[in-house]
Amino acid sequence: MKIQRAAVIGAGAMGSGIAQVLSAAGVEVLLKDVSDELVERGLANVKRMYDSRVKKEILTRAEADYLLGMVKGTTSYDGFAEADLVIEAALEQIEVKQQIFRELDRLCPPRAVLATNTSALSISEIGAATRRPEKVVGMHFFNPAQTMKLVEVIPGVKTSEETVQWAIGLCRDLRKIPVRVEECPGFLVNRLLFPYMNEALYALQDGAATAEEIDRAVVEFGLPMGPFTLFDMTGIDVCAHVNNFLHTQYGPRFEPARLLQLLMENKQLGQKSGAGFFVHAGGVPHGKDEVRQANPEAARLLEEARRHQKPARSQRPFDAYRVMLPMFNEATYALQEKVVQAGDVDLAMQWGCGMSRGLLTIAEEKGFAWCLSELENYQGELGERFRPSWYLRKLVRAGLHDFSELQRSPVAVS
Ligand SMILES: NC(=O)c1ccc[n+]([C@@H]2O[C@H](COP(=O)([O-])OP(=O)(O)OC[C@H]3O[C@@H](n4cnc5c(N)ncnc54)[C@H](O)[C@@H]3O)[C@@H](O)[C@H]2O)c1
Repeated sequence: MKIQRAAVIGAGAMGSGIAQVLSAAGVEVLLKDVSDELVERGLANVKRMYDSRVKKEILTRAEADYLLGMVKGTTSYDGFAEADLVIEAALEQIEVKQQIFRELDRLCPPRAVLATNTSALSISEIGAATRRPEKVVGMHFFNPAQTMKLVEVIPGVKTSEETVQWAIGLCRDLRKIPVRVEECPGFLVNRLLFPYMNEALYALQDGAATAEEIDRAVVEFGLPMGPFTLFDMTGIDVCAHVNNFLHTQYGPRFEPARLLQLLMENKQLGQKSGAGFFVHAGGVPHGKDEVRQANPEAARLLEEARRHQKPARSQRPFDAYRVMLPMFNEATYALQEKVVQAGDVDLAMQWGCGMSRGLLTIAEEKGFAWCLSELENYQGELGERFRPSWYLRKLVRAGLHDFSELQRSPVAVS
């Protein structure tokens, strides 16, 4: 599939990264924002991305300049009538996105696919603002879009199979790794990450281990960084909103730990505010092996969280499985709902959050029966956050050892 012209709405962190990815594949891009200043900032960002490729000798200066020249900034919809594709990466508000899609539907040619990079809003609801919901699809890039390989391709209820396959093919042309995910709150990667992040908070709150110890255990387990480093990097406020949202959608499994809300209310937002779980002098990220300095304000809020929310305690010493099992369990809920194919889960977690070992592969190595029995033990001690899916019970009853057995079976999950 060759597309010639695309447009990206929103020249912020994601929009500028997506514009770089499209232009690097030889696609002409219109990068639109609401003011000249924001457009200029976005273009400067794209230039920085190309400069870094020149510095790393991936591109020559002439090649970089040529590809950068494919991206044109704009504050208007001029030229959208020639676009084969639009990717929207504006504000995460349904009214804003619906308004944008209404306009796009009016201005873009009938053949154009209209994609949204929303992190959590409903693709179906965005598509409903148009007269072409069959051509509206979620293309969820990860941050930074110019380097992260994964794209979750998410159909809404009315998205045509042709559009889904087109978007998957486009991702491959852009040298990305597409994973098809049916529409559900959090899509796949965030849906799986948050039970793990939330459980890390509970482990901290109930005194099982310190933030530093939990982070270290998880890194030794094969994740690129621990949950508390990730909280600080992503922003405590962003994480608190996602956590609360997933709780409203999925119920008790996602009951948020109190500490996150307290940190947000007290403006301890992570790197962007200078301190979250750790202190970040000048907002600078920690080096990989640097000793982290715990934030004293977070320690005070931890005591407050413990007074407000007295969760049950596990009798066992902390180990990484306490936080990894909720992630695996959520993956089995997603399989139960046919949100994703088993073969795509490890791919998504590898390329979307840098897991060096596959999530399902780890569970296969430990054995499904072991995972189920551990989840039941934790459920007995710590409650509903660990309630195993019936799908996992079914796998254990069937004596299954490996998800690949399902692909050969006539009753494969999807
Ligand atoms: N930042 C992330 O980690 C991440 C990851 C995946 C998806 N997303 C999603 O991508 C989208 C953009 O996120 P971001 O982090 O780049 O935000 P951002 O705030 O950096 O950029 C958003 C840009 O959109 C512009 N904008 C707002 N309304 C507009 C309109 N009507 N027309 C044109 N431009 C408009 C804003 O001026 C701003 O420059 C959101 O939906 C977000 O949920 C973000």
